[in-house]
Amino acid sequence: MSSFWNDLPQPFFVLAPMEAVTDVVFRQVVRRAGAPDIFFTEFANATGWVHAGDKAIAGRLIKTDDEHPLVAQIWGGEPGDMEQFARHCRELGFDGIDINMGCPAKSAIKSGGAALIRRPDVAVAAIRAAKTAGLPVSVKTRLGYTYADEWRDWLRVLLEQDIVNLTIHLRTKREMSKVPAHYELIDEIVALRDEVAPQTLLTINGDIRDRAHGLELAAQHPGINGIMIGRGVFHDPFCFSKSASGIAEKNLGAKPGPGLFFSDTRTDRELTGLDAPVTASSTEDMSTPHRAELLELLRYHLDLFDEYQPVLERPFETLKRFFKIYIRDFDGAKELRDQLMHTRTTDEARHVLRSGRL
Ligand SMILES: Cc1cc2nc3c(=O)[nH]c(=O)nc-3n(C[C@H](O)[C@H](O)[C@H](O)COP(=O)(O)O)c2cc1C
Repeated sequence: MSSFWNDLPQPFFVLAPMEAVTDVVFRQVVRRAGAPDIFFTEFANATGWVHAGDKAIAGRLIKTDDEHPLVAQIWGGEPGDMEQFARHCRELGFDGIDINMGCPAKSAIKSGGAALIRRPDVAVAAIRAAKTAGLPVSVKTRLGYTYADEWRDWLRVLLEQDIVNLTIHLRTKREMSKVPAHYELIDEIVALRDEVAPQTLLTINGDIRDRAHGLELAAQHPGINGIMIGRGVFHDPFCFSKSASGIAEKNLGAKPGPGLFFSDTRTDRELTGLDAPVTASSTEDMSTPHRAELLELLRYHLDLFDEYQPVLERPFETLKRFFKIYIRDFDGAKELRDQLMHTRTTDEARHVLRSGRL
C-alpha cells in the first residue's frame, strides 16, 4: 500500500509520541517552531476506548483538521479492540496508525506496550487487526525486552508483517533511558530490513538532539529512512527547524548520554524535567533574538492552552511542566521560572512575563 510515508523526502523527521506532552497544543507549538515531516499523537489505549469510550482516552486523539500527516498511536493486547479502535482513528481522519510495542510503563506492560515483545503472536495479530481499517500501519518498538541481542528475532517478526514503517527506540525495555542508545547496531538492523522487507521504512530513535544530529546519523548509516526525535524538543523546541538554533549543541554539550535528556520512566518529576540539570549555560551563548523567540513560543503555548481548554479540560498545573523549555539559559531565568510556578492561571502567567526582567 502506497501512502504519505512513501512520498516524503528522506531522511524524514518525526516528532516522537510522548504521553502528556505531544497533545494537540504542543504539536502546534512545535509546528510553529519548525515542523517535522510527521507528527504522532501520544499513545491511546484501544481496550479502554472500546469499553469506556472517549473519556478513557482523555483528549489524546484531539487534533486540528490541518495537521497532516498525523499518525494516531494506539496500544493494547486485544486484537479485536485494536481493530475497532483503528477504524475509529480512520473515521477521525488520521493518516496512519502506529502500534506502540515499546512502552515500559507498568500500566502498559500488563497487556500491551513492551509486553508484546514477549508475545509476538499477539503482536502479529494486533498488526493484522489494525490493518483492516485500511490506513497504513507502522510499529514503534525497542530492541528487545531484557537483552539488546533479542533484536534480531524480534525485529524479524515485525518486518515479516509488511508494515509501512518500523521505528526502533535503540534500547531494550530493561534499559529504559538509562544507557546511551545502541547506534552501533544500526547498520546490522538496516541489513536485516533489506533482507526481510526492503519495502518497510526504517526510522531510528533515541538520544537524537536535532535535525543536524539526525542528518549526521543518516549520513553515517545509509539505508535509514527516518529520524524520530522526542526529548530533543524539550531542550530546543526549534530542533526540527532547518535553521535550528542549536541550543542543544551550544548549551548542553554535543554528546548524547543518559544524563542529557529527561527520562521516559514517566514519573511526573522526570516528565517535567524541572529537576533535570541545565548544564553549561551562559547568557552570551544564547542570543537575545533567540530568547525573544522562546518567550514568544511560550505566549503561543499559553494561548493554545486557553483555546483548547473547553475540550481538553486540563488543570493549569499540567502547563507548568513546560515552562522550563522556554525559560532557561539566561540571567534571571530561574527567578522568572519560580514566579511562573506560583501562577494559577494563564493570565497570571502572561502578567509575570510582561513584568519580568526581560
Ligand atoms: C514524557 C515521555 C512520554 C512518552 N510517551 C510515549 C508514548 O506515548 N508512546 C511511545 O511510543 N513512546 C513514548 N515515549 C518514548 C519516546 O517516544 C521516545 O521513544 C524516547 O523518549 C526516546 O527518544 P528520545 O531520546 O528522542 O527522547 C515517551 C517518552 C517521554 C520522555
